[in-house]
Amino acid sequence: MQQDLDENTVTAAVLEQMANTPNPRLKQVMESLVKHLHDFARDVDLTPEEWLYGIAFMTEIGKTCTPSRQETILLSDTLGLSALVNALHAKKNLAKATDPSLLGPFYRAAAPMIAAGGSICATPGQAPEIQFYGQVQDSSGNPIPHAQLTVWQTDAEGFYDMQLHGEEQMDHRAMLETDASGHYSFRAVRPLGYYIPMDGPVGRMINAQLRHGCRPAHTHFLISAPGYAELVTSLYFGDDQYIGTDTVFGVSRSLIIEPKMDAAAPISGIPAVHYVFTLSPQTAEGGGRVGADPSQLVKA
Ligand code: BEZ
Ligand code: FE
Repeated sequence: MQQDLDENTVTAAVLEQMANTPNPRLKQVMESLVKHLHDFARDVDLTPEEWLYGIAFMTEIGKTCTPSRQETILLSDTLGLSALVNALHAKKNLAKATDPSLLGPFYRAAAPMIAAGGSICATPGQAPEIQFYGQVQDSSGNPIPHAQLTVWQTDAEGFYDMQLHGEEQMDHRAMLETDASGHYSFRAVRPLGYYIPMDGPVGRMINAQLRHGCRPAHTHFLISAPGYAELVTSLYFGDDQYIGTDTVFGVSRSLIIEPKMDAAAPISGIPAVHYVFTLSPQTAEGGGRVGADPSQLVKA
């Protein structure tokens, strides 16, 4: 019976119409979504003008998406939803692993392969170098040999290769493998923090909220090995002014690093970051990477 609906009874009426949804997970997700959406509208006493503003905003979010730009994921990132989904997914790991962080829009699947100790810069020597070294291990501390690492970051001025050269030329990104004892090492420049894309509707929202729109300097890692859950994470430079206020909520204390001179590092004379990554055994659910390659998403 759907007559005389008012601002409270409309919720039950919607739930009743959806009650025969055969897919149990779809039913659960949609019921909860409708309840929270209606509670939100009642909570703020949403006006028709505000409803229309929200519709126009979401329409613009969609129109801003291109094969290389995912404004909807950026909205999720800046509302903390991507970080929340990452944290929920990490809780399902079979064993404690390195904390995850966002994949972000600048990941590219096929980066150049480098040997241990190689540089991720296409033309090394343009800016002062640092080195990263350490091990990939399981949750009992056993090394994982031949784990695959994909690494990407900005240059020393805070730009990703695709912002400077489009899809043409890769720089400051590479793939490498751990050796037989699970060790990895590579050279890079010290990356710089940067603004998230601010020229779209998400940027307008950030400005309206008087947020700075910056990410602290970081280096991204995607680490995989057969039988282990894929790890998507980043290491964050602790002295960055935005380390405590990342616009997309990617920083965990355990991911903060400080390069320093280190006599144990494989390359002498340049500051080093030593970091041990821990992978969890693969679960039946598999996958769960938050923030897919935008071009794949648009195709989907
Ligand atoms: C990134 O770290 O590359 C990134 C993540 C989320 C939004 C924008 C950039
Ligand atoms: Fe990034």
